Amino acid sequence: MARKGTDTVIPWEEIRRHNTDRNCWVVMYGEVLDVTDFLSVHPGGLDPICDQGGYDITSSFESIGHSSVALEKARSFKIGLASPAMAAPTQKTRSLVPESTTTTPLGAAASTTSPQSPPTTAPTTTAGSSFTINILLLVVAIVVGYYAIMAARI
Ligand code: HEM
Repeated sequence: MARKGTDTVIPWEEIRRHNTDRNCWVVMYGEVLDVTDFLSVHPGGLDPICDQGGYDITSSFESIGHSSVALEKARSFKIGLASPAMAAPTQKTRSLVPESTTTTPLGAAASTTSPQSPPTTAPTTTAGSSFTINILLLVVAIVVGYYAIMAARI
């Protein structure tokens, strides 16, 4: 039930939305797979895939030791490429492989030990450091202001 051209780059915001058993997209090796119709016939059951709807399943898929038949099956569900530009906000379940910027097609997956995975973790938090910088700027402004007032009095 492909809805898009197979080379269409699909943003993670949209991928995230397809996370139910009636509408389930997952990402494997940077490729977006519409597995909705496969969920009910998956030998490993519906939940293992459905629970990760909208997320990257590369690591989970590999950890099971799926066969090349399973890999070929997965390829048949490809509807596009996950946008590498946007980091996935959070992990939904399992810890997945680290972020990478290169794309490894599914076909190459069986022969490589370092497949591409899209961003799977939230962007590193800079909120704490920017807060500290703001406090420092405030302190500097107060000190400068204080000395300016003192200088004006002299
Ligand atoms: C599009 C993604 C997936 C496809 C096409 C797929 C396909 C298959 C296929 C064909 C099998 C039969 C054994 C084999 O040929 O390797 C299988 C078994 C299994 N799969 Fe998946 N799978 C997918 C994703 C997942 C994910 C994300 C999980 C979760 C960890 C998972 C868990 C399992 C388990 C536990 C079995 C073993 C079932 C058993 O032997 O009783 N699969 N899968």
